[in-house]
Amino acid sequence: MYKTLLLTLALLGTGLAQTAPRTILPEKSAQIETRVQDLLSKMTLKEKIGQMIQIDVLRMMGDPNNEWDRGPLEQSWMKIVLDDYQVGSLLSGGGAAPVPNTPANWLTMTDKLKAYSLERSRLRIPLLYGVDAVHGHNNVQGATFYPHNIGLAAAFHPELVQELGKQTALAVRSTGILWNFAPVADLGRDPRWGRFYETFGEDPVLVSSLVTGQVKGQLEGGSIATVKHFYGYGSSVDGKDRANTVLEDSVLRTYDLPAYRAALEAGAQTVMVNSGSVRGVPAHASSDILQKLLRQELGFKGVVLSDWEDVLKLQTVHRFVGSYKEAIKVSVNSGVDVAMIPHDAATYARLLTELVAEGEVSQKRIDEAVGNMLRLKLEAGLFEAKPKAVSLDTLKNVDLAKRAALESMTLLENKNNLLPLKNTFKKLTVAGDSADSVERLLGGWSINWQGLGKDTVSGVSTVWEALKVQTPKNTALVLATDPLELKAEAASSDAVILVLGEKPYAEGDGDNSNPTLSTAQMELWKVARASKKPTIVVLVSGRPLILPEKPDALLMAYLPGSQGAEAIVETLWGKANPSGRLPFSYPKTVDQLPLNYNRPSSAYTPLYPFGAGLSYTTFAYGSLKVQPKGNTVQVSLSVKNTGKLEGNHIVQLFADGGKAQKQLAAFARVSLKAGESKDVTLEFPSSNLATLSSTAQGQFGGGNFNLSVGTLGVKVALEKPIR
Ligand code: BGC
Ligand code: BGC
Repeated sequence: MYKTLLLTLALLGTGLAQTAPRTILPEKSAQIETRVQDLLSKMTLKEKIGQMIQIDVLRMMGDPNNEWDRGPLEQSWMKIVLDDYQVGSLLSGGGAAPVPNTPANWLTMTDKLKAYSLERSRLRIPLLYGVDAVHGHNNVQGATFYPHNIGLAAAFHPELVQELGKQTALAVRSTGILWNFAPVADLGRDPRWGRFYETFGEDPVLVSSLVTGQVKGQLEGGSIATVKHFYGYGSSVDGKDRANTVLEDSVLRTYDLPAYRAALEAGAQTVMVNSGSVRGVPAHASSDILQKLLRQELGFKGVVLSDWEDVLKLQTVHRFVGSYKEAIKVSVNSGVDVAMIPHDAATYARLLTELVAEGEVSQKRIDEAVGNMLRLKLEAGLFEAKPKAVSLDTLKNVDLAKRAALESMTLLENKNNLLPLKNTFKKLTVAGDSADSVERLLGGWSINWQGLGKDTVSGVSTVWEALKVQTPKNTALVLATDPLELKAEAASSDAVILVLGEKPYAEGDGDNSNPTLSTAQMELWKVARASKKPTIVVLVSGRPLILPEKPDALLMAYLPGSQGAEAIVETLWGKANPSGRLPFSYPKTVDQLPLNYNRPSSAYTPLYPFGAGLSYTTFAYGSLKVQPKGNTVQVSLSVKNTGKLEGNHIVQLFADGGKAQKQLAAFARVSLKAGESKDVTLEFPSSNLATLSSTAQGQFGGGNFNLSVGTLGVKVALEKPIR
């Protein structure tokens, strides 16, 4: 049977300055503007500066002398932050949870802070609360953890990411929080970076469409989205966190900018600034980035939020200015509206007050920054009576987490169809540091900033536990805990399963200049290979770990979250057919880094290329046709499942013929029963090919290209976009 699908992909920006579309009706927006101006006319400077400050909730918890201590809310500090300084927004940074960490306590805590602040606000300006819900509402005990973005990217499925964004928004709202510091729109160009797993991978077209899905979902679910970290954060030197990027502006515009732009066009209301610097200038001190590019060119009208302590860091880390006061001056004047301070409101407020008195920061700039924050609050409906309650049940979403984990599973190697595992296997030996670990499945930003650590969560199985549940009774299972045991048990096994991975980490603590297997992992690897038994390697990892050689079978599981173990084991046993594709280039050696498939003419010899991924069935393509239509290109083809199993297939349309080796132009997910064929139409803006041909402003420059899907190819001539 033939079916026709029209899969219109998220259209990326064409390079025209555009205002982020708002869901607010024009009359409503005019009313809001009147309210903003009215409030500004009534507010004192102190009240205004309060709106420009964001404080971490830990400051108001536990031991009053220890800003990091957790515990009950401390009245004396609530008074200082919310009453004396009239602070307009709070955040829970990674791990900043109430004690004990329960969903109900989250709601009580945020309710209490909001009520306290509202009572002390002369003009009854409501408090806004923010959090990093980057894979589900991940700080909350009892919430479901979705796979981290790098795994979601492998599903090539914007609608899935949209659904996850929506469910996450509901979960966040159920605890009284409206502002989510997500999505990360930074590219993951270098796996040495400790935040690689927070990205959707290396490709601008893929990242843009997933970020669009993520923002749309968050808005549907009613939360405020933050595109972070603007911009170029993912392209710093040597994959170091918060470092400098040396890339030319035209390159950054071609590769990095599209995803941020896509997030703004999808309606993200707030932007968080890159903690690092771009060609030597810290982003927090760059009016080129925050004014010229973000406001003037991209037409952004929302709130610009600093990252954690980054105003102070202009002095203490970047040494860009000589004092904290200078740092405040330069960041506010460059375009930072709200500073995530995160502990000391007093000094910031005092210095900014002085700067205004001295005429170093204008009243106009203060009003602009505060106006942006008030508008955000008004548009989010915060001023209206009582926000609609969302049930705490939304914190759990096991089915969605499972689906997401399953769709992310990426089969990279499968010699002699070793997988799926066979019922005829009499014995399987399992080993590896991630085989029986929950924290490894969840990664960083899970309950605590750096991952679970000493905390535990309930309802999450390890791979070993899931194997015990799902393995047929006639197959014996052994968990070998050291190389000697592995050697002894492997001898009588049909296959060895090594589950390897990394300890959880977050941000700079996760930077790793040498992401290879550890000595202990190498030992297991050697023993497994020496046994001459087929070896299946499952990688539970937020980055590609350099491998000594290709194993017989390799399943990349990324950081798959709460239902990750079930998804891994269902895939191993063939209850699910893998369909994920690598959202990055898998390097052979560390010296190859950074290694990306769409760089200009560098040698590209990865272990597995961007887009790689196998299935338990086979697919064939036919009748590839192309039709340029103005600024977009339409491509049609047929896809057939030529194997014996049902499966999802990701059609990847690549283009080549230009500056870069090749570029993903468009993609689609097709689900096909055994023997079934479908016609697929892909439509994409020619600007998706900007990495192949770009103007100095990073816009698509036109040219002749080859388009290909698998081994089929077709030529197309494209012009510069007509404005
Ligand atoms: C991170 C941000 C995060 C913020 C608040 C920073 O260190 O860079 O991504 O939103 O902390 O937790
Ligand atoms: C916070 C994180 C933040 C980090 C910045 C941590 O203590 O919990 O949210 O990103 O500090 O360095």
